[in-house]
Amino acid sequence: MRRSVIDILDLSVTELDELIKTAVDIARHPKKYAKKCAGKKIATLFFEPSTRTRLSFEAAMLELGGSVIGFSDAKNSSVSKGESIADTAKVISCYADIIAMRHPLEGAPIVAARNASIPVINAGDGGHCHPTQTLADLLTIWREKGTFNNLTVGFCGDLKYGRTVHSLIAALNRYTGIKIVLISPEELKLPYYVKRDMQLHNVPYTETDDLEKALSSLDVLYMTRVQQERFDDVEEYNRLKDCYILTEEKMKLAKRDMSVLHPLPRVNEISVAIDNDERACYFKQVLNGKYMRMALILKLLSAKNPVDEIDYVKRCELIDSTDMVCTNPKCITKVEQELPHSFKLVDKQENVKRCMYCEKKYK
Ligand code: NCD
Repeated sequence: MRRSVIDILDLSVTELDELIKTAVDIARHPKKYAKKCAGKKIATLFFEPSTRTRLSFEAAMLELGGSVIGFSDAKNSSVSKGESIADTAKVISCYADIIAMRHPLEGAPIVAARNASIPVINAGDGGHCHPTQTLADLLTIWREKGTFNNLTVGFCGDLKYGRTVHSLIAALNRYTGIKIVLISPEELKLPYYVKRDMQLHNVPYTETDDLEKALSSLDVLYMTRVQQERFDDVEEYNRLKDCYILTEEKMKLAKRDMSVLHPLPRVNEISVAIDNDERACYFKQVLNGKYMRMALILKLLSAKNPVDEIDYVKRCELIDSTDMVCTNPKCITKVEQELPHSFKLVDKQENVKRCMYCEKKYK
């Protein structure tokens, strides 16, 4: 098994600093990196629709002089014939040097990483996490603000299903003086496990449904779309889809140097008129994402030694039990053949156990 990145905490703060340094250098001197991955292949395994993330990985590898294989639709893969993630990972390990994988089921990239003999990068698993979007977000914040400390960051929209929000909060928890403002309707509030992590890191947060009131305190505003594909109830989606729209009028309430981030795709959350506002950073974020993915690919491909377990699993105290079953219908344990359910003891004080794959609380 090789070093993989399943969630953002698989990278230490020092490693994030190094990745940012490399990404900034790539942006300045792209020619220096143009052949660094010559002869190497990335397999982009996208079991869920995506344009920007997949193309970002592919552009990243091509700009490093490597090449790309893969698929952009599960229908075009053997999974449609019933192949397991474990088998897919073993097979792809014979063809490529590194995998970037997106999957609608939460925890799928963990199964891939435990079975592949090449590094696996999680390119988004269900509503769980999305570490490389966080790399894009972090580089953007770094370039705009020059620091990660003492910032008030607002997250607005679908905080329940927005995996990019979960990963960015996990990353920010490790810096000092961070304050978080959670702006969402009741139905789309941040999952408890993400809030609990903030509490454990002593990161103060407030919750509101009022974007206008929150705006003046923010250094960074992270807008998100309502994640239509994660809703079981279409009517609920229709009722919530336009819950927040950032307009020029509202931007007048914000600080003159507040940065507006959005992982994209934008549906209706930010008026196009704001694209010309100096504070709009979402298209810069796309470019930053490519540089950070280049830096990450370089890092993982140059890691020499095999590992006995992926960092994501190493960090957990695991409880394996045949009696305990994860109840999340979107968890990979629901479909993967003979995958034992496994739980991590996340909070000894409160005896809280969460599924190792999807982080759903065991009840
Ligand atoms: C995000 C995702 O896939 O979670 N997009 C992305 O990676 N560029 C956000 C989203 O789809 O809303």
